[in-house]
Amino acid sequence: MGGRDGIGGNDGLLNGKVALVTGGSRGIGAATALRLAREGADVALTYVNGKEAADDVVRAVEALGRRAVALRADSADVEESAGAVARTAEALGGRLDVLVNNVGVGLLGPLESLSVADVDRVLAVNVRGVFLASQAAAGLMVAGGRIITVGTCMTQRVPGPGGALYAMSKSALIGMTKALARELGARGITANIVHPGPIDTDMNPADGVFAEGQAAMTALGRFGTAEEVAGTVAYLAGAAYVTGAEFSVDGGHAA
Ligand SMILES: NC(=O)c1ccc[n+]([C@@H]2O[C@H](COP(=O)([O-])OP(=O)(O)OC[C@H]3O[C@@H](n4cnc5c(N)ncnc54)[C@H](OP(=O)(O)O)[C@@H]3O)[C@@H](O)[C@H]2O)c1
Repeated sequence: MGGRDGIGGNDGLLNGKVALVTGGSRGIGAATALRLAREGADVALTYVNGKEAADDVVRAVEALGRRAVALRADSADVEESAGAVARTAEALGGRLDVLVNNVGVGLLGPLESLSVADVDRVLAVNVRGVFLASQAAAGLMVAGGRIITVGTCMTQRVPGPGGALYAMSKSALIGMTKALARELGARGITANIVHPGPIDTDMNPADGVFAEGQAAMTALGRFGTAEEVAGTVAYLAGAAYVTGAEFSVDGGHAA
């Protein structure tokens, strides 16, 4: 393997494992679901609106010979965040080995434009939902469990105005990841966080209005691909002696 994702493959490394990728119907989550399946995992993915896109990912995973299930579960909802973990285990053999906390809301804007409702919404999805899913996953996981969370390069370097709410929410995940690593390490469960730079997805298209400036902020002068982020997530899904760590997959945005 290797190639576009920049990380060599480990075909079969995740054989027999079950993974849940939140927000797996498009973008980084969809690429991650496929990459984990290529490594041998059965995969559940959550979505809210895009049932068709989620079903497409399920079919693509099944075409790789792995089991897959799409779960409608809104990460803003308390019951549904934790519930997706239990539903994954129910659907895929009673276990969960890998949780990828990928869902995130990217709400940017001048400080004065952000309402209390905006703050509540972003914290509900980006922080509370991630905490509840991780808590539920830790309850199910045994030794070898992996919790991998998607942060952002804006926790390392904020290149301009408008990012206070988003950067605040994602920065909370760094603290959570380190604390989970400490709390779950004795059980052989790892927790790590990946910080993507500008990645070409529906959330942040490489031909969007602010794309040129974002590409210029990176050392490599370009957007990354969802597959490049998925490669690092897959590496962490197989890594036994890496925990509490932050991984930038950002083209040098923080350099
Ligand atoms: N793209 C970037 O440049 C970039 C950079 C740094 C960090 N990130 C982070 O990477 C992660 C993925 O971003 P992306 O660019 O791949 O996003 P995306 O293209 O907008 O895809 C978002 C995915 O999450 C699902 N989703 C959205 N809200 C949800 C909710 N409340 N509950 C459950 N699922 C939900 C969407 O499903 P539906 O179709 O149902 O809405 C979709 O599958 C996010 O945490 C983001 O903050 C992205």
